[in-house]
Amino acid sequence: MTAPSTATHSPKLRPNDPCWCGSGRKYKRCHKVATDRVQPSALSPRRPVPDGIERPHYADRGGSSRRDEPPVKDADTIARMRRTGAAAAEILREAGDAVAPGVTTDDIDALVHEACLARGGYPSPLGYGHPAFPKSVCTSVNEVICHGIPDARPLRDGDIVNLDVTLFREGVHGDTNATFLVGTVDPESRRLVRTTRECLERGIDAVRPGRPLSDIGRAIETHAQSARLAVVRAFIGHGIGREFHTDVEVLHYYDPRASRVMEPGMTFTIEPMIAMGAWQHRVWEDGWTAVTIDGRRSAQFEHTVLVTDAGAEVLTVHPDGRWSGYPGD
Ligand code: MF3
Ligand code: CO
Ligand code: CO
Repeated sequence: MTAPSTATHSPKLRPNDPCWCGSGRKYKRCHKVATDRVQPSALSPRRPVPDGIERPHYADRGGSSRRDEPPVKDADTIARMRRTGAAAAEILREAGDAVAPGVTTDDIDALVHEACLARGGYPSPLGYGHPAFPKSVCTSVNEVICHGIPDARPLRDGDIVNLDVTLFREGVHGDTNATFLVGTVDPESRRLVRTTRECLERGIDAVRPGRPLSDIGRAIETHAQSARLAVVRAFIGHGIGREFHTDVEVLHYYDPRASRVMEPGMTFTIEPMIAMGAWQHRVWEDGWTAVTIDGRRSAQFEHTVLVTDAGAEVLTVHPDGRWSGYPGD
């Protein structure tokens, strides 16, 4: 042997050793990423929804949202969205309480599915879009940015997992998500998750009638940049109501073209995805699972909000007022 091949570097290094490339970062956070990326796993059969539950239009016919629903809602629609949002928040809390090493994301899907039905609602993701989303909740682990499909992969100590719950009830959707820690998680990932929640809080604080939607993205991007983290650009917040996704667009970064003005009665989501490394993504063969291109972790938090005369009302608050995910209140 005269020169080492690249393959001889890796077997000797342990995950916490400095990387062989001289970056000064831990091996597991640098060149080791390729070996411990999340891998697709087996899906369970589609879970049935009983006849007594009101179904969104796409549940049987397929398809996605009609995007042209009016953005400003009447008082009755808002009252229904408040109730549906609170129920979605309760389901998110229950699902987060089940997160532990060894629990599969399919176990969490079963729990969310039953929790939606138990409250007389339909799990909005089930059957939505092209290809039809096959499960009742999105479960996005580590470098999965969003839209992860629950499968047979057991959660592992040290993972982070986003659970994105959307409930359809009383003819309206409530959409909320949070990122949870699995067992003992490294400090850098905890900082990512905490900062991402703060980004959502900053975004909500920027909601004001008469101001452009671009204020929200500016507040989020400023906070992410101050923490040396990146805003994922490809997925954005959206108008919501009778339809899951309407044409109000809520960017999580600053773009002066986002000049649409916020009006009292408007309902939309804010759902920043924040990455430790690259913000660029690619999508798995399943047509849904979005992952960071560099395999580094990404976190997300989401609320459905209403623009009021003074600012924002969060429609997906838990009845006890506390946030779900890390860090809780
Ligand atoms: N809940 C996601 C959002 O925040 C949408 C998921 S689409 C699905 O917009 F089909 F995957 F459910
Ligand atoms: Co959403
Ligand atoms: Co969502």
